Amino acid sequence: MQNQSQHHALIQSLPKAELHVHIEGTFEPELMFEIAQRNHVDIPYASVDDLKKAYDFHNLQSFLDIYYAGANVLLHEQDFYDLTYAYFEKCKADNVVHTEIFFDPQTHTDRGVAFATVINGIERACQDAKKNLGISSYLIMCFLRHLSEEAAFETLAQAKPYKDKIIAVGLDSSEVGHPPSKFERVFKEAKTQGYLIVAHAGEEGPPEYIWEALDLLQVNRIDHGVRCEEDEQLMARLIAEKMPLTVCPLSNLKLCVVDDMQQHNIKRLLDQGVNVTVNSDDPAYFGGYMNDNFYAISDALDLSSQDIRQLASNSFQASFLPEAEKAQWMEKVVKS
Ligand code: HPA
Ligand code: ZN
Repeated sequence: MQNQSQHHALIQSLPKAELHVHIEGTFEPELMFEIAQRNHVDIPYASVDDLKKAYDFHNLQSFLDIYYAGANVLLHEQDFYDLTYAYFEKCKADNVVHTEIFFDPQTHTDRGVAFATVINGIERACQDAKKNLGISSYLIMCFLRHLSEEAAFETLAQAKPYKDKIIAVGLDSSEVGHPPSKFERVFKEAKTQGYLIVAHAGEEGPPEYIWEALDLLQVNRIDHGVRCEEDEQLMARLIAEKMPLTVCPLSNLKLCVVDDMQQHNIKRLLDQGVNVTVNSDDPAYFGGYMNDNFYAISDALDLSSQDIRQLASNSFQASFLPEAEKAQWMEKVVKS
């Protein structure tokens, strides 16, 4: 117990970067109700408690259905600002000093909300967070993989005027049945335009999807990737290339990717030399932000203080920050 509280204190004290968080997944029920009310949008739940009771997921799709429904109340630039700034306040509390935020433009543009409304609101919150809270951030634009390649190309075209505000493109939503190969051409074009590349792969989908993300999309990081362990050759490749995996422990538990936290493979992956990081994914839905994810794995997997430091250090090493900034933060992790 003594050890546990010391480890929690260490987790709290270390600077950390978050590399896998969907801004729409940080939408806390209280804020959702507030914005719904001011926008005169109906939520099919009587109260915050009622809504929370619906957060009983059994797989990725059962979560996504509720996640997309929640996003429906976001209409105006101020809504996207409020959503994003509230997430930065959580970062501050957890000593997350840098974050690389996913946003899903198609979730909003398909409802008639302009691309500019979405990105301007998010971006203004990023600037204010830098100024007021000292937190740096990048934006990663994700394509919804259940939609078509053509729709992804349209989204890439809409992003063009905002190219300097977006560091990377990613791939999210329903994984199984929508392999990375479906989007090979649009990612090739994104890479040509100068974006860095990430993709969700190996969350529910098989190791073959991770191979495709590496070979066809030429990713700089894999999001989730926890099913890599089923393929020895893939493990060897990830280790040799120091390919980062943005692992999301509480998400994996909530969506039944693992049956209980003691079964989670993040510690085994770390011990084998895979470049794993800890992230919150959709923290408003999965029961916790960055530090809650660290506490959960630290307690369940009996992490050492060295493991905890390594994971915090990996978060900077795997980030898209300039090398000099990465090095400064990694030194702070060692000295904290
Ligand atoms: N997986 C895929 N798509 C998502 C997720 C996730 O965990 N969260 C939000 N969109
Ligand atoms: Zn995700």
